[in-house]
Amino acid sequence: MVELKNARFLGRDLMRDLILEGDMAIDATAGNGHDALFLCRQVGETGLVHVFDVQEEALKRTRERLEAEGMLKRAKLHLRSHAEMADVVEGRARAVLFNLGWLPGGDHEKTTRAESSAKAVEAALELLLPGGMAFICVYPGHEEGRHEMEMLTGLAKGLDPRRFNALFSAFLNQREDSPKLIAIQRNMNGGKEEA
Ligand SMILES: C[S@@+](CC[C@H](N)C(=O)[O-])C[C@H]1O[C@@H](n2cnc3c(N)ncnc32)[C@H](O)[C@@H]1O
Repeated sequence: MVELKNARFLGRDLMRDLILEGDMAIDATAGNGHDALFLCRQVGETGLVHVFDVQEEALKRTRERLEAEGMLKRAKLHLRSHAEMADVVEGRARAVLFNLGWLPGGDHEKTTRAESSAKAVEAALELLLPGGMAFICVYPGHEEGRHEMEMLTGLAKGLDPRRFNALFSAFLNQREDSPKLIAIQRNMNGGKEEA
């Protein structure tokens, strides 16, 4: 059975095939920890997931969720902006996931912001393994989300196609402001080191 899914779950389907046991992956927006849990399961016992959020409450919820599922030892939680991920992440990631917006049930003012999201996506792209992918779920149903979508699609359009392939996924028969997926893959033989 194959189903056309929304932005978030389409990304998950791709990650199920992409991420291998022992990989390193990054959850750039911890929130309630659902995505972090998914990534911890995908990287397996020998893998590692770096998880970022700027809100203590989000990391607390994520820690509790991972602990309850016996997955905490697969994760490193960072109370800092994803724009600073290159300062703490060592090695290369198979996947980096951004589920933008605000903490569900939290303060809407503490939403992700276009400028820092763009900086973080640029950092993430440089941390990817050849063949690795960044998945960005954007929510244009609110003003900052619309701004993020414009900025990040602009960034993706400007990427050198020798280094990256960038995909934009949208349902044509749903509301224009429904969530969208931007997926960017670092080409297998198009890394900076070969340029
Ligand atoms: C939609 S939620 C993420 C949902 C989450 N992935 C899950 O599975 O529940 C977005 C999160 O991004 C966080 N955030 C906002 N600005 C951020 C930043 N600069 N760096 C990292 N996280 C940020 C918010 O605090 C919020 O928890």
